[in-house]
Amino acid sequence: MLNVGKIEEGFVLDHIPAGKSMAIYRYLKLDQLDCTVAIIKNAKSNKMGKKDILKVECDIHSLNLDILGFIDKDITVNIVQNGEIVGKKKLSLPQEIHNVVKCHNPRCISSIEQELPQIFVLSDPQRGIYRCKYCEEKFTETNQSF
Ligand code: CTP
Ligand code: ZN
Repeated sequence: MLNVGKIEEGFVLDHIPAGKSMAIYRYLKLDQLDCTVAIIKNAKSNKMGKKDILKVECDIHSLNLDILGFIDKDITVNIVQNGEIVGKKKLSLPQEIHNVVKCHNPRCISSIEQELPQIFVLSDPQRGIYRCKYCEEKFTETNQSF
């Protein structure tokens, strides 16, 4: 397997469904951060067949990873300090997501007023259903593919 060096401090996001690593890169706005990032695409995995891995070398307090819970709760978030994995972050569904997915209701105020933030709210935690804060349109995966 392609080998990428271990990191000193930061996060290793493991067990990312194959193909989703670039979307995660964008959602975490890693392009705007001055940190070292490795994206490993289509790594072999016993559990998943193929998976992506993202390594981010950064100050662990500088990055908010809550959005990962929305993308896929089964992503493993390894926290690395001094070259060692010191913990794993538990992912849960975020209460609100801002400017990640767009409402597709053409009559929604957020479709008309372009400067409004796109906000979706967790309306059913059991079923993981999100609705537009303005018009309550339900979010479905077909609205937006990762
Ligand atoms: N890793 C890293 N830098 C470190 C420590 C670990 O990049 N300083 C990476 C490893 O290369 C590996 C991932 O973090 O890709 C997870 O490491 P580890 O928990 O040791 O591996 P697994 O046993 O495969 O993890 P899991 O139990 O989650 O399957
Ligand atoms: Zn809406």
